[in-house]
Amino acid sequence: MSERDVLARFEAHLDPARPEAAPGVSIIGYGEVSTVFALAELPGRVCKRMSGFRDAEAVAHYAETVRRYIDFLEAEDIRVVETAILAIERKGRAPVVYLAQPQLAAEGLGNSVLRHADDATLRARLDAVLLRIGRLLRSNRERRDGRSVTVDAQLSNWHFGSGERAGGEPLLIDIGTPFMRKDGADEIGVELFLAAVPPGVRALYRRARAVERYLDAFFDARSLLVDAVANFHKEGRPDRIPLALERVNRWLAEDVPDLGGRPIRAEDVDRYYRNDAKTLELYLRARRLDRFVRTRLLGQRYDFILPGAIRR
Ligand SMILES: Nc1ncnc2c1ncn2[C@@H]1O[C@H](COP(=O)(O)OP(=O)(O)O)[C@@H](O)[C@H]1O
Ligand SMILES: [Mg+2]
Repeated sequence: MSERDVLARFEAHLDPARPEAAPGVSIIGYGEVSTVFALAELPGRVCKRMSGFRDAEAVAHYAETVRRYIDFLEAEDIRVVETAILAIERKGRAPVVYLAQPQLAAEGLGNSVLRHADDATLRARLDAVLLRIGRLLRSNRERRDGRSVTVDAQLSNWHFGSGERAGGEPLLIDIGTPFMRKDGADEIGVELFLAAVPPGVRALYRRARAVERYLDAFFDARSLLVDAVANFHKEGRPDRIPLALERVNRWLAEDVPDLGGRPIRAEDVDRYYRNDAKTLELYLRARRLDRFVRTRLLGQRYDFILPGAIRR
């Protein structure tokens, strides 16, 4: 059976409220955006499910944007893990998209490097990511076609090789949100983000341009790195924040001085993290409440997988 057929069958059996109940599934992780599965029928592969599309046209636009994003990054010398983008049709509802990738060795994942590698290795991995991000952000400035492109810098979004190939070029694994702007507008559009928000707050988010503001932070060197370093808290290694800041601040001052980033202090990171954790927790609670109202009170379907309690 093809990968597409396996995923179509999986999707037909999936209850988004209980993803682990579908046959042959193991959940590898909940990211902030997607849920990452491995399926017994697709050995050696991982799949990330994206839902919330209005219609087939929105799905086609998303798939095309992700494809272009990957091509763009590769052209800018950022290597991306081989990714199949599969739109899966459903009866009477808009399709969902699965992003399928080879399952990479756990020891090479950025979160594992952050937890277990020695200081010299962690420094080298951080420098490798910073080098590539610096080039990308600098070329945003130089480009004349109104386009700007960025990535989510968090270590958990990169793979650094394993075994013999440890320490090779970092490989970007998180490409589900294409951070690509043309003349200031997000090419992915805001609707996909808003679909995940309870309807009651959607108008509010729209008016406050909350999605655009959330995305803004990824295009700015300093705020991108504050976020990435703050993630050390979530990964349980806040003790390594000083080491990371030493590399990041050197990079801000020496490699990208033209991008105008003041040095980042540990207090900046901690303050950001407390705020971000609170916002995400609130957001998740609002989504759980919305799911409860829609499924239990209104008898509707709820198409998003929500993470369980997030440990911070
Ligand atoms: N190709 C892969 N192989 C192994 N693990 C992966 C792979 N892709 C993702 N993961 C794991 O799942 C986590 C979340 O995936 P990611 O693509 O970053 O999704 P999100 O957008 O939700 O953050 C990663 O940090 C990593 O631990
Ligand atoms: Mg991620």
